[in-house]
Amino acid sequence: MGRLIPWAVLLVLLSLTEAGRNFWLVQQRVLQQREVLAMKEVVSRRLLLRPASWRAPIEGSLSQPLDHFNREEGHTFQQRFWINEEHWNRPAGPVFLYIGGENALSPYAVLSGHHVELAEEHGALLVALEHRFYGASINPDGLTNTSLRFLSSQQALADLASFHLFVTQKYSLGQNTWICFGGSYPGSLAAWFRLKFPHLVFAAVASSAPVRAQLDFTGYNRVVAASLSDPVVGGSAQCCQAVAEAFAAVDEHLAAGRLAELEKDFRSCRPLTEPSDHWEFASNLADIFMGAVQYNEEFLCGSVTKQCSVMTRDSLGSPYQRLVVIMNGYLECMALACMDNSHQHTLEELRSTNLTLTGVGERQWYFQTCTEFGYYQTCEDATCPFSRLLTLAPALDLCSQIFGLAPQHVEGAVNFTNQYYGADHPKASRVLFVNGNIDPWHALGVLRNQSRSEPAILINGTAHCADMNPTRPSDRPTLVWARQRINSYVGQWLRSAPKEPSAS
Ligand SMILES: *[C@@H]1O[C@H](CO)[C@@H](O)[C@H](O)[C@H]1NC(C)=O
Ligand SMILES: *[C@@H]1O[C@H](CO)[C@@H](O)[C@H](O)[C@H]1NC(C)=O
Ligand SMILES: *[C@@H]1O[C@H](CO)[C@@H](O)[C@H](O)[C@H]1NC(C)=O
Ligand SMILES: *[C@@H]1O[C@H](CO)[C@@H](O)[C@H](O)[C@H]1NC(C)=O
Ligand SMILES: *[C@@H]1O[C@H](CO)[C@@H](O)[C@H](O)[C@H]1NC(C)=O
Repeated sequence: MGRLIPWAVLLVLLSLTEAGRNFWLVQQRVLQQREVLAMKEVVSRRLLLRPASWRAPIEGSLSQPLDHFNREEGHTFQQRFWINEEHWNRPAGPVFLYIGGENALSPYAVLSGHHVELAEEHGALLVALEHRFYGASINPDGLTNTSLRFLSSQQALADLASFHLFVTQKYSLGQNTWICFGGSYPGSLAAWFRLKFPHLVFAAVASSAPVRAQLDFTGYNRVVAASLSDPVVGGSAQCCQAVAEAFAAVDEHLAAGRLAELEKDFRSCRPLTEPSDHWEFASNLADIFMGAVQYNEEFLCGSVTKQCSVMTRDSLGSPYQRLVVIMNGYLECMALACMDNSHQHTLEELRSTNLTLTGVGERQWYFQTCTEFGYYQTCEDATCPFSRLLTLAPALDLCSQIFGLAPQHVEGAVNFTNQYYGADHPKASRVLFVNGNIDPWHALGVLRNQSRSEPAILINGTAHCADMNPTRPSDRPTLVWARQRINSYVGQWLRSAPKEPSAS
């Protein structure tokens, strides 16, 4: 059980204090927090209650073709997986597949979360597959420009198909019913696995899945504005207005060249010399609010309630001065001495083929945005409360600066993704789409029932992937209700699945 308590992993993550764009930091922090909570949950709910029967999950790796679509090319890579047999009702119990995405997986993928609670209830075998090119599932050539050619959602789905075969052989499975689960990008993969491989997986739960690719994702900050204004999570119209005024003041300073003042007030590690540093600075500042909204109560360095209580407090001075207070509180909470706004550093990090075996794979994910999804979170919409410097051009420039991919190429790739999967009107069946209305990503998701067998749940008051977390006493009533609906769909699916004696 040593590897269940990854203090070493946490220490590595905590030392990444001078990473590039701020949102990655927020994401890393949320992932760490989730791991810590999962660890506490597993220890208290499982290890201490029934220590005698405790067995750690099986960790292994599977040899996969580097290119599923060219079998003459013989290169392979090792893909990591976890299996938890503990709840499985052998041999006929169902298989619940947890799909990995743009960050490293850990044993908690099969130990903690709503899908694990469902597995306990339904006697399911829990299996999880890390996504190719993330975590430890990296090909021997690493992250060079040429090997990233083999990173795509299509290859990832083919990996899932071959993992299905591997598990089927390992456990001599017959007609066991498979259900897949995923959240965020893996939520899309869950829906698409059911869509493209209906003979392998009987049903899917797709949480916070941005299934519609979009180059210029202005809708993200439209939702951020709505969430900062939403009293259900502690927002208000005054809060959003104050944020907008503060950023307008920042934009004025930038336009007037009052850089020294900005550098000092917002604790920039280095002078804001180039126009690209101004963009980086404006993004980093907006990221604090975007992170607070996307993860809301899960992000301990700022929820909507916390940020809004500062942004609406007149005693702190002008909205600009309140924003300074937010930045200071944020840096302190994240244990950062200053904010790195150097665009050159971002470029160096995204160009670097150095491997990070934990957390989010930033270079790899940026590659997937350039070659499949876009998702660039701009501030061009009238409702957006952030800096007007956040336009599409600088985000697209990164695709050409890091990977040599021209804007036209990126646009065509995004169009193809929607053509290939059906955007937000996929013609699948037995896929449940779950979203939270606070989460900015819901703007690209399926929000309404597509048919009786493609239902959608939109949860009032929850952020990104909230339904996937383990049940907690503090859960909102709307979240409790949504999980009951998910349970009820999973139960119905399992009852309606074809049964046969699985010993074949
Ligand atoms: C990549 O690793 C090398 C060698 O350890 C190091 O010198 C370099 O700073 C790293 N680059 C980045 C961007 O982390
Ligand atoms: C990848 O391509 C970019 C853009 O063409 C180039 O600047 C960079 O040096 C390349 N990186 C590697 C590791 O070859
Ligand atoms: C992508 O689709 C949009 C909207 O249909 C269209 O305007 C644009 O020309 C397409 N771009 C490319 C490169 O295919
Ligand atoms: C969606 O479908 C479910 C049944 O599958 C139904 O209970 C629900 O009312 C439907 N929602 C809407 C908005 O039609
Ligand atoms: C969400 O719930 C609140 C009450 O808690 C209600 O006022 C609001 O209208 C609901 N929003 C939506 C979109 O249903």
